[in-house]
Amino acid sequence: IFYTMMALVNPGDEVIYPDPGYPIYSSAVRFAGGVPKPIVLREENDFRLDVDELKKMVTHKTKVIIVNSPHNPTGSVLNKEELKAILDLADGERLFILCDELYHRIYYGGEMAPSMYEFPEAKEKVILMEGFSKIYAMTGWRLGYGVLPPDLVPWFSKLQTNVYSHAPAFVQVAGIEAYNGPQDAPKAMVEEFKRRRDYIVPRLNSMDLVHCVEPKGAFYAWLNIKKLNRPSNEVAEYLLNEAGVALLTGTSFGESGEGYLRMSYAASMEDIKYGLDQLEKYLPKLVK
Ligand SMILES: Cc1ncc(COP(=O)(O)O)c(C=O)c1O
Repeated sequence: IFYTMMALVNPGDEVIYPDPGYPIYSSAVRFAGGVPKPIVLREENDFRLDVDELKKMVTHKTKVIIVNSPHNPTGSVLNKEELKAILDLADGERLFILCDELYHRIYYGGEMAPSMYEFPEAKEKVILMEGFSKIYAMTGWRLGYGVLPPDLVPWFSKLQTNVYSHAPAFVQVAGIEAYNGPQDAPKAMVEEFKRRRDYIVPRLNSMDLVHCVEPKGAFYAWLNIKKLNRPSNEVAEYLLNEAGVALLTGTSFGESGEGYLRMSYAASMEDIKYGLDQLEKYLPKLVK
């Protein structure tokens, strides 16, 4: 994300990114002197980016459109037609797509979520971002990679050499082993995430005070708490301190996260059950 912004964005250039969305997008844009342009992902569209709205936001100043599917924090997934329509907005000279596919294989509708890289022209227009953190549960190892249009490689290499040099050699070896080795563990992990999702979503939707759109990928549930009529950070803090349940306030993911909380289900089923029991008990106490 950082290299894309440093390589492509000059002061005043615009970058469109999803809101709610991974918080590093807007901070990296600002660091490069760019202008972050949030596109709101709406609940009535199952939190999928609206391509028509996106088209209207593109100006001569737009340098990068950031796409994240499957999406953190909502779990929404774009279909092939939507990805293609977004891809068609880029020209690979003035406007590029940064496609964040960190959760590509954490998908519940098949083996892998649709990818922009399925279209041949993506090679000239898309900076594809992937990593080992999620699918191989290697978060602490700090290993990820990008696939770039060939013309951009020298600029990214220059940044890489000066900023990070390279990932530690033993971490690279671990990554190669993870990638080339048997894939039953990641597969089992995704099946387990699906089992947890299928438990969590109906339980949340059976509660009067919250509801949640079913996530199609990643491992987060995005809870609508608007009925409580309280700021999200206040609710998150209350649940942490009083109920012992840690949920992230929706506003950590941008302004349109107000009225939502993010729940991660990369936790044991036992903890999830306890957390949901606690929500059931403590949420009614917050009603004004
Ligand atoms: C959408 C998205 N992109 C990128 C990252 C960065 O992942 P990492 O730094 O662990 O490789 C994350 C981590 O949460 C994420 O959710």
